[in-house]
Amino acid sequence: MSSTADTHQPATGQVAAEQTAVEENLIATVLASFDNTPDPRLKQVMQSLVAHLHAFIRDVRLTEAEWNKAIEFLTAVGHITDDRRQEFILLSDVLGASMQTINVNNPTCTGSAVATEATVFGPFFVDDAPEIPNGGDIAGGAPGQPCWIEGTVTDTEGNPVPNARIEVWEADEDGFYDVQYDDNRVAGRAHLFADEDGKYSFWGLTPTPYPIPHDGPVGRMLEATGRSPMRASHLHFMVTAEGLRTLVTHIFVRGDELLKSDTVFGVKESLVKDFVQQPAGTPTQDGRALASGWTRARFDIVLAPAGAEPAHAG
Ligand code: BEZ
Ligand code: FE
Repeated sequence: MSSTADTHQPATGQVAAEQTAVEENLIATVLASFDNTPDPRLKQVMQSLVAHLHAFIRDVRLTEAEWNKAIEFLTAVGHITDDRRQEFILLSDVLGASMQTINVNNPTCTGSAVATEATVFGPFFVDDAPEIPNGGDIAGGAPGQPCWIEGTVTDTEGNPVPNARIEVWEADEDGFYDVQYDDNRVAGRAHLFADEDGKYSFWGLTPTPYPIPHDGPVGRMLEATGRSPMRASHLHFMVTAEGLRTLVTHIFVRGDELLKSDTVFGVKESLVKDFVQQPAGTPTQDGRALASGWTRARFDIVLAPAGAEPAHAG
């Protein structure tokens, strides 16, 4: 039996042979209904989906009441979804499906250096974030402890990637992204370009933990299953450069107690960075006058070659 046998009692073993034949016959019929799908990839995806869905229903011996509940749940997920809120992506995130899709599509890529690992995109990216100069500040007035981030962008052969476009976005110290306020503020996000040597730096905020939106059906599911909605503290990056694979990732804060329980399973050890505390009065490299303490972190970014994505099997 599957590893799920540790956590529940699948009843398939107790199903009579005649009943098993009825169930397997239905699966064969449903699979065959897709046999003439003109697009071979669509055929593969649909038949695999049917096979796994039926395996699940039979594995847990799904009751009709549970099936109804599932339909009600998905209906609620649809109803709360609009232009500003995407509950289906949130559902995918908390089930680990987003992260697994990222894993499948961003295989480890190693030359003389290993490409930086990808993680979840999340719902708070905005296309037209302002440009800041290299060394500028993304905070835009967002509250939080200042943090100096610096690093390089290189390819997997160690060559600098000049002028790579770096998008960064993060929540403020109250745990909210600018788009979660209804005053149209733009804060805690920007884009900048690496210099000719692939070097970049900017001021941001020391990341703090925050909950994913949990006032909807996904939040109720987390509560019913005893799970927390909290994300580990992080800062989002999306890095693009011609001829190289676009990287969507975060950096996380070493020592954050949520690293092991991030609710969207986004943490990868290679993305956990030291955010080194700088006591009040520590001079900054750009002569900025800071009354309070600040942190600094280094994030060297390695981009895989474009086309390093896996081909579809079958
Ligand atoms: C985020 O990091 O912004 C995020 C990711 C997944 C779900 C919700 C929020
Ligand atoms: Fe986030």
